[in-house]
Amino acid sequence: MTGFIEYNAKEMEMRERYKMLISAVAPRPIGFATSINSEGNINLAPFSFFNAFSANPPIVGISPAFSGRTGKPKNTLTNILETKEFTLSVVTFDMVEQMNICAAEYPPDVNEFLKSGLSPYQGKVVSTPGVAESPLILECNFTEHIQFSDQPAGGNLLLGEVVYIHAKDAIFDENSKIDPHKIDQVARMGYNWYSRSIQGMFELKAPKYLPLGVDKLPKEVQSCPYFPGNLLARLASIENIPERQEIAELSETYDRLSTDEMLKICAKLVSEGRILQAWQILYLAELL
Ligand SMILES: Cc1cc2nc3c(=O)[nH]c(=O)nc-3n(C[C@H](O)[C@H](O)[C@H](O)COP(=O)(O)O)c2cc1C
Repeated sequence: MTGFIEYNAKEMEMRERYKMLISAVAPRPIGFATSINSEGNINLAPFSFFNAFSANPPIVGISPAFSGRTGKPKNTLTNILETKEFTLSVVTFDMVEQMNICAAEYPPDVNEFLKSGLSPYQGKVVSTPGVAESPLILECNFTEHIQFSDQPAGGNLLLGEVVYIHAKDAIFDENSKIDPHKIDQVARMGYNWYSRSIQGMFELKAPKYLPLGVDKLPKEVQSCPYFPGNLLARLASIENIPERQEIAELSETYDRLSTDEMLKICAKLVSEGRILQAWQILYLAELL
C-alpha cells in the first residue's frame, strides 16, 4: 500500500491527462500575451503554460496549444509565427475578470483590449502593446517554435528573447528592489482555481553553504515523531555541528528530563528557529 493511485499517461483520455497535468504543475504563472497579425489586428490572451527559461540571454516561453475541441491553432500562435514578436504582461488580482474575457475564442479580427476594457501600453522596441494596467511588461522577439504534435491539445512552445522590460514605480521598495508584496500577482492551478500570491507568501532563504544534511543527524532524531521532515531539514540546515557549550544551570535542569522530553524541547526550539540552542539540547541528551 503506497497511498498512490497510478495512471499510465499514454492510456489516459486526453481531458483527464490535461486535468492531471494542470493540477500537478501548479500554481502556474500567467503570461498575458499580446500579439499582432500581418494585417495589424491586435490580439490579447492569457497563457499559463508560461515560464522563463534563461536569464542570459533572457528567454521566456508560452505554449498555445491546438484547440482541444477543433484542433485549430490559436490566434496567438498564428500571429507570433507571422510577425515574430509579442509582449507578456503580468496578471494581477484586480484584472482577473478582464483577463478571463480575453480567454474567449474571439475571431482574429477582434481586439481583446476593446472586449476586456484593458488599455494598451506602447513599448519601446516591439510594435505590439503591453497591458497598461499591469505592473510588469516584457517586450519579446520570437526566437524558436517547438511543436509537440499536430493533435488537438498538442502544445506549441514559443520562445522569445526579452528585449525591453517595463516595471511600474509602485512595485519597488525604498531600496529600489522589487517588492513581491506590491505586485499582487495571480497564478493558475487545477480546474478553475487560481491563487493570489500575496495571500500565501513566506520567505525561505537559500543556503549559502553545503548544509549538514538530515543523514548526519543522530539516528534517534531522524526517527523521532516530534521531527517531521521540515524540522529535520531545518535542524540539518547548518554547515557544521556546533561546538558544545558548557552551561551549568542548563545541565542541572535537563539532568532531570528523559531523552524523550529533551527531544520534544529540541523540536520546539527548531520550530521557533532557535537552531543553535536545539543542538545544545542534543548534547545534554547525550545524543552527540
Ligand atoms: C488563466 C488562463 C491560462 C491559459 N493558459 C493557456 C495555455 O497555456 N495554453 C493554451 O493554449 N491556452 C491557454 N488558455 C486558453 C487561451 O487563453 C484561450 O484559448 C484563448 O482563446 C486563446 O486566444 P487566441 O486564440 O486569441 O490566441 C488559458 C486561459 C486562461 C484563462
